[in-house]
Amino acid sequence: MNAITFDVEIKGARKQFGSNVVLNDINLEVKQGELLTLLGPSGCGKSTTLNLIAGFLEADQGDVYIKGKKVTKVPPYKRDLGMVFQTYSLFPHMTVLENLSFGLKLRKVAKTEQKKKIDRVLELVKMSGLEHRYPRELSGGQRQRVAIARALVVEPELLLLDEPLSNLDAKLRHELRAEIKRLQKEIGVTTIFVTHDQEEALSMSDRVVVMNAGKIEQISTPTAIYNHPETEFVFQFIGKSNSFEGEVVDTEDRKITVKVGEEIIHVDSANIIGENRSLRAEDEVKLYIRPENVHISSTREASSPTLELQPAKIIQLNYLGTSWEVDVSLQGKTIQLLTNSYDSTWQYGSEVYVGWNPSEIMLTKK
Ligand SMILES: Nc1ncnc2c1ncn2[C@@H]1O[C@H](COP(=O)(O)OP(=O)(O)OP(=O)(O)O)[C@@H](O)[C@H]1O
Ligand SMILES: [Mg+2]
Repeated sequence: MNAITFDVEIKGARKQFGSNVVLNDINLEVKQGELLTLLGPSGCGKSTTLNLIAGFLEADQGDVYIKGKKVTKVPPYKRDLGMVFQTYSLFPHMTVLENLSFGLKLRKVAKTEQKKKIDRVLELVKMSGLEHRYPRELSGGQRQRVAIARALVVEPELLLLDEPLSNLDAKLRHELRAEIKRLQKEIGVTTIFVTHDQEEALSMSDRVVVMNAGKIEQISTPTAIYNHPETEFVFQFIGKSNSFEGEVVDTEDRKITVKVGEEIIHVDSANIIGENRSLRAEDEVKLYIRPENVHISSTREASSPTLELQPAKIIQLNYLGTSWEVDVSLQGKTIQLLTNSYDSTWQYGSEVYVGWNPSEIMLTKK
């Protein structure tokens, strides 16, 4: 029988600082060659989790495995990993070349071999020719590139990146994001990336681990995290949404009928968020719909049979470059939507039609 072995496994990890439980029963499996992201708000335990894997911290309970071997008691330098931290972690008194050769010397790699490896990683991170600069002579983005090169040059089994882009401006962050993703796939090194930026997590990862207050809320692909959140926290943390309160009128098979004010709204039962999936008539619920799932049209004719459009009034129009953000008033409620099909006659006060498909509404029990 072929047992599945993961590159990294955390089993039942718990970590406490004083009376503060920082990690509570963390279970995690990282596949070979995967880019897995730990995502969550500040203080939720992302760095602590990464430090358990790196060996800078030891869990109070539970174990860490790398390539099937228990490493709970193995010191960091014996774990064969490359790590990049949030703040620049280069040696300031060493040139780029010296920074890169440091780990190779420790590993007693021959001089000629060192040069080959360094040339290759510098090329990978597009820093060839800057070998003799000191960190202070480099821009922030260049420094982070060198930090990544230094982590990669020793050809680690595992690459750990703790918010390596958070000190950079938006444009550079975007560029390096794409570059890390390209590099990671090119080399195929199993990578754990930490961020509190949901867009960064969704755009870079094979899978995302959403963490909240020392616990894992959900582990899924980026599209599943966005479209099928398993907990209300995940839904609220990722993306924007409009919300309404309502009362269940009827539940049958896969359709739930909810009354919101005087309106009747239908929801697919597959779209219930959270563990409590059984609903009954008179239950109070909250409905959510993402701005990009609210359809808008100048006419009442709907583009699909499940879409029922209702009259609304535009109360705000914001141009975002590639799309328009529109606020409309629908029966006294403000609803925000995002659209690419903009009608140039729209202005403040324009009468329009808006609506959504039942499959695009999500629901939680209150
Ligand atoms: N050495 C320590 N001693 C005491 N408390 C600590 C220590 N390290 C972390 N903590 C606490 O543990 C919790 C989790 O910290 P951690 O650094 O893992 O969060 P994080 O998710 O990485 O947050 P951020 O996004 O701000 O980096 C926080 O409440 C933090 O204050
Ligand atoms: Mg952190």
